[in-house]
Amino acid sequence: MPTVVIANLKSKSIHCEDKRESLLNILLTATDWMHACGAKGRCTTCKVKIITGMDHLTPRTKAEEHYSKLNKLRENERLTCQTFLGGDVTIEVPLETQLPHLTYSE
Ligand code: FES
Repeated sequence: MPTVVIANLKSKSIHCEDKRESLLNILLTATDWMHACGAKGRCTTCKVKIITGMDHLTPRTKAEEHYSKLNKLRENERLTCQTFLGGDVTIEVPLETQLPHLTYSE
């Protein structure tokens, strides 16, 4: 089963039990994660920076391409609600979507 490591959240490691779940749903089993539009691909608050394993993710959706064209999603970023895992990834929570009640490392 794939593993997600959140590098700037004390390298928290999350094992994906069901590959049919979105990356957002996997993250929500172990930590709080912003998702303002309710996982509909209509905001960018759920975005994540991919450190390693980009090729283990499903291709970008139309929603992600839309935000990429608007420069709201960088080449190394994905919307967690639109992304599914095929293998291990290491990620970081971008500064702009960090939650105030959690402690992040550099
Ligand atoms: S929660 Fe809004 S785009 Fe993912």
